[in-house]
Amino acid sequence: MHLSKNLYIFFAVVLSIDITDGYDYEMISRCIFSSKDLHDAELIDSYVFNKVELIRFNSSVGHYVGYTDLGIKNADRWNKGPELAREKTQLDGYCKHNAANDYSAILEKHVQPSVILRSGSPPGGTHHAILTCSAYDYYPKQIKVTWMRDGHEVTSGVISTEEQANGDWYYHIHSQLEYTPRSGEKISCMVEHASLDKPIEKYWDPSLPESERSKIAIGASGLVLGLVLALAGLIYYQRKKSNGRTLVPSG
Ligand SMILES: *[C@@H]1O[C@H](CO)[C@@H](O)[C@H](O)[C@H]1NC(C)=O
Repeated sequence: MHLSKNLYIFFAVVLSIDITDGYDYEMISRCIFSSKDLHDAELIDSYVFNKVELIRFNSSVGHYVGYTDLGIKNADRWNKGPELAREKTQLDGYCKHNAANDYSAILEKHVQPSVILRSGSPPGGTHHAILTCSAYDYYPKQIKVTWMRDGHEVTSGVISTEEQANGDWYYHIHSQLEYTPRSGEKISCMVEHASLDKPIEKYWDPSLPESERSKIAIGASGLVLGLVLALAGLIYYQRKKSNGRTLVPSG
């Protein structure tokens, strides 16, 4: 899987007091790193009152820094007290420890899409055909859906949605191809995703779908039955006619 160079992961601990009266005091812990080996991991602890950051601990700086009168006074006090020693253990104890767990639980989690290809008719009764290729219930979000016609990528007549969140951590996407069918061609939808060793490729089968085939089968049986009955009736009628002729008493 491709990981962005500037991957940032945040962990936040929020302690809030007095929210009912409209005040908010928060301690926000952020772990920021851009490499999976965590060599540049940085812990930023911010102490914020009503959106004003009073004090910050940045593990690369190594001590508390105050930003307001109150913040400066307390940063001085914490830098001399047990707070600083405890804070300094958090880069390893909190950031690096959790990051390893989160990598395996979130970043390395892959779920394969299920791909469905269906047809629809475009409005206005044109000679065009529309195919829709959908990929459902996959993770992570990034995915690539391509249309192929006789082995070549098709780009015109293609409309795709964004990756859409299901709301349960999984995603789905739809892509539509509008084209003029040619006989003997092979059209397929190809889906590439981090969960797949090789792309999923679904070929369009231009023969009629199951439901249409059964309707035609029912219609055809009705026709055959009707013909058989008509033929039987005709034979019966003919025999009756000829019987009538031969059975007429001669004397
Ligand atoms: C933390 O401190 C380092 C060194 O001064 C600085 O490069 C970095 O931008 C700081 N990080 C944040 C989020 O303030």
